Amino acid sequence: MTIGVPAETTPGERRVALVPESVTRLTKAGATVLVQRGAGAPAAFVDAAYEAAGATLAPDAAAVYQGADVILKVQRPSSEELERMREGTVLIAQLAPLGDPSFVELLAKKKLIALSMDAIPRITRAQSMDVLSSQANIDGYKAVLLGAAALPRFFPMLTTAAGTIPPAKVLILGAGVAGLQAIATARRLGAVVSGYDTRAVVKEQVQSLGASFLEMDLGVDAEGAGGYAKELTPEQIDKQRAFMVEHIGASDVVITTAAVPGKRAPLLITEEAVKAMKPGSVIVDIAAETGGNCALTVPGEIVVRYDVTIIGTTNLPSTMPYHASQLYSRNLFTLLSHLMKDGQLQFDYADEITKGTTLTHDGEIIHAPTLAALTGSVA
Ligand code: NAI
Repeated sequence: MTIGVPAETTPGERRVALVPESVTRLTKAGATVLVQRGAGAPAAFVDAAYEAAGATLAPDAAAVYQGADVILKVQRPSSEELERMREGTVLIAQLAPLGDPSFVELLAKKKLIALSMDAIPRITRAQSMDVLSSQANIDGYKAVLLGAAALPRFFPMLTTAAGTIPPAKVLILGAGVAGLQAIATARRLGAVVSGYDTRAVVKEQVQSLGASFLEMDLGVDAEGAGGYAKELTPEQIDKQRAFMVEHIGASDVVITTAAVPGKRAPLLITEEAVKAMKPGSVIVDIAAETGGNCALTVPGEIVVRYDVTIIGTTNLPSTMPYHASQLYSRNLFTLLSHLMKDGQLQFDYADEITKGTTLTHDGEIIHAPTLAALTGSVA
């Protein structure tokens, strides 16, 4: 079995799917690994490290697509890359099937066996393959650093000869994987942190990290299937926004991470709430890519509105490509080990992980949520 790693071509993407450490483990398991020359360079993994790990270097992407039975990527392939893939190739990447289900039809037409890393079931057995978690951790960490760097104030309390500096007040909206990491990071930097989520179950997790939890009675617990949040009704969202204004106004930095799977990100910070913030305050909107939690966020940009800096930078994991790639690569290696039997990948659809992750096989779409999205029914 030959595993191919092409360089990423999506603009701004600096991660690489496989790092040398995983190449060593895969070659020990009997696989041949073909890496495009320079593929790891943006993430600080040089060609010599891949060679030392046992990979063969390919001169260009065409040689990788031609020579590999399994293609590993970070981002979904472009139409040009899809064109290059042979029928029956196994493609594993973050394919985001629900963001654009019609793309999955192209994968089926091409007769690829396509697996999406972002579709791995969120079950205990699959935690070490979970890219949504490994990359969201980076989101939460980096968002705090961006917020701290843009804030014209200190985060920690400082007692200096020139007087005492009070600590910054940081509010984290949404306390899933990214939000909890943001809380931990802001605490490490010495800020006074509070967190909020519609799922009551996270209160204890927020408090265990040394933050206070904002209590608001929505009249329901918004925890839905799989531990994810349910979408709120328009009345509940209105109530939440009104409750938030005062807390947002009292914060120096607000980091928003709120998301509901398959839906637009909930709008939590209105223009009024931005106006209520002090000059120099900062909002970092991790949900910028899925519509934004703040009404004034511009995805991919940093803007200043009413003297508040609003950071809508997208793809934060790619700004820390070394560790983002290392974690992604470990997630991939664990999935490959799960699928590998006698040196080959075997697809057992009675297995929950394989079934939940595979989008297409033999020209058919077999992923229930994608099929439901294409037909407009509920999976
Ligand atoms: P996510 O990225 O889908 O959402 C982020 C957070 O936003 C969630 O905590 C959600 O409750 C919150 N949210 C949604 N609407 C909101 C609103 N209107 N206001 C405030 N907050 C709002 O979630 P993520 O981080 O991917 O994980 C969510 C849950 O998934 C975890 O807490 C856990 O239960 C489950 N999970 C399970 C794993 C496993 O067992 N392998 C791994 C990771 C997560």
